[in-house]
Amino acid sequence: MPKKPIIIANWKMNLGVRESVDLVKAVNDQGAVSNNEVEIVVCPSFTALASVSDSLHLKSDIKLGAQNVFWEYKGAFTGEISPLMLKELGCEYVIIGHSERRGHLGETDEMVHKKAKAVLDAGLIPIICVGENFDERQKGQKDYVIMKQMNQALEGLRLSEDSKIIIAYEPVWVIGSGQAIEAEEAEHTHIIIESYLLDIYSPDTLAKKLRVIYGGSVDKNNVAEFIGQKTIDGVLVGGASLKVEEFVGLIKAVQRIA
Ligand code: PGA
Repeated sequence: MPKKPIIIANWKMNLGVRESVDLVKAVNDQGAVSNNEVEIVVCPSFTALASVSDSLHLKSDIKLGAQNVFWEYKGAFTGEISPLMLKELGCEYVIIGHSERRGHLGETDEMVHKKAKAVLDAGLIPIICVGENFDERQKGQKDYVIMKQMNQALEGLRLSEDSKIIIAYEPVWVIGSGQAIEAEEAEHTHIIIESYLLDIYSPDTLAKKLRVIYGGSVDKNNVAEFIGQKTIDGVLVGGASLKVEEFVGLIKAVQRIA
């Protein structure tokens, strides 16, 4: 954790507008974000983004992210949301290629690449999700799968002066299971991811513009172990970010070691 740790809350299709605003307010009211050592991002559903953005605007250090995006900026793409629309609402981050989208909605590595490019060009920060499923893991293909996903997502992406990218390593079979992998095991995969990143980017770029985070059944009891690893720069949290006590507990656990 040599970089400032980041906690990204992915609320998936769980909270409506009122619930999302209430949760953000409660986290703020409990003072969980009043220090500068941890960066916190919440990713509500599209319908809640505007209201959450309004409630964050005046008094919070919590940042806003979206759970998905389209790769074009404007045009005849019924039902899609452009990076510029997210930017207009105050989003700074966008989750791309989450395994639930890859699995349920047929999102491919090529789509992930196009989305990452569009997001970077709009001045937003993509959170690119990679990870193996159980079958691939059993067959010993974990590293290969992750390399392939990263290669296709990142190939030819130019980073401007202000661009930043987050890679989220999420073993697909662990997501929502309540049973995370060992932090040392995640660290091992993160080392592989970092060495791959060093094949395409300079050490300076890795240090200043890239972060690699872990996701998959992170909670307030295990988060410190993950954040305590040298190459784990933060966490992507689903279930444990939906309830105020659990989420605040998780943030405080990170603050204690940051
Ligand atoms: P989980 O979800 O924390 O509920 O396992 C993580 C994710 O899907 O990003």
